[in-house]
Amino acid sequence: MVDTIIRADAITKSFGDVRAVKGVDLAVEPGTVFGLLGPNGAGKTTTIRILTTLLEPDGGSATVAGFDVVRDAEQLRPVIGLAGQFAAVDENLTGLENLEMVGRLYHLPRAEARRRAEKVLERFDLAEAAHRTAKTYSGGMRRRLDVGASLVGQPKVLFMDEPTTGLDPRSRLVLWELIRDLQKEGTTLLLCTQYLEEADQLCDRIAVIDLGTVIAEGTSEDLKDKIGGEVLELHVDAEHLGRAVETLRGLGSGEPTQDEDTRLIRVPVGSEGPMVLLETVRRLDDAGIPIEDIALHRPTLDDVFLSLTGHAAEMALEEAEEPEPQPEKRKRRRDR
Ligand SMILES: Nc1ncnc2c1ncn2[C@@H]1O[C@H](COP(=O)(O)OP(=O)(O)O)[C@@H](O)[C@H]1O
Ligand SMILES: [Mg+2]
Repeated sequence: MVDTIIRADAITKSFGDVRAVKGVDLAVEPGTVFGLLGPNGAGKTTTIRILTTLLEPDGGSATVAGFDVVRDAEQLRPVIGLAGQFAAVDENLTGLENLEMVGRLYHLPRAEARRRAEKVLERFDLAEAAHRTAKTYSGGMRRRLDVGASLVGQPKVLFMDEPTTGLDPRSRLVLWELIRDLQKEGTTLLLCTQYLEEADQLCDRIAVIDLGTVIAEGTSEDLKDKIGGEVLELHVDAEHLGRAVETLRGLGSGEPTQDEDTRLIRVPVGSEGPMVLLETVRRLDDAGIPIEDIALHRPTLDDVFLSLTGHAAEMALEEAEEPEPQPEKRKRRRDR
């Protein structure tokens, strides 16, 4: 049997009429980064809250590091860390005070709490801001402090709930590097995300979750193989975009999609790539639409998600453009 450090067997959870998690199975090997990928409302946070003992499942069972998340919750808590949307950074404390407080929650002696707090601040490039209150921090700094807080207890297993949602691209890359470093040091990570690229870049295995169920699981490559075949990508100029898409309807193995900003049209083509490519060139030529470039590509995780669920995965694009998390929004989320 494969060695697993996180295991969920058919866990379920409802909130009134809402069946948030409907029988999720997970098996995560030690030392790996496992991605839980799904859109808003898929059940990611509920799953993570069950695995970190914050919520009891209605049904099914789960173990983390050999401890049952319900029966052995007390013993489990010191071994795990939780970072992300819901973890608390106290805005009125300094960075250092925030981290020391976490150390105290782990019952570390004062000097040890201080030592670890300083180490984390150093590592997360927050040493210079150590004595400023967290409310003066940028969105990226706050998020780093939040992840830092989850590391003070030196957890064997770290759960991260959308650690980069709402971050600017640069801060996102900084966090990605930290995640990679943690994995190198042997930490097992379970990472919830709605960003396909993030899952693709960081995760050894990915479970795609939608409407409370895991609908596919495997490496990023496995998932891409699942939909099989290739995708035809082409660019036309903005004025021809809509008409080009109409012209190509019914051609491939699925409907063409368009991106207004990049003027990219994508057509899933299955195994008929070369034929569809020729026919595309012919049709657009007949319609008098010039093609800027055209090529066949392997599918991306976006294509996988779209073909599995019939809808796109990334639904928080406006959120991603916000420079900082909005206090109002965070509050509402936490209250749920
Ligand atoms: N405390 C709660 N009370 C009522 N409904 C909830 C609560 N927490 C989550 N839900 C609902 O459960 C579903 C799954 O939510 P969640 O696990 O937060 O998804 P995700 O983290 O993937 O966005 C959603 O429909 C959400 O509205
Ligand atoms: Mg969530």
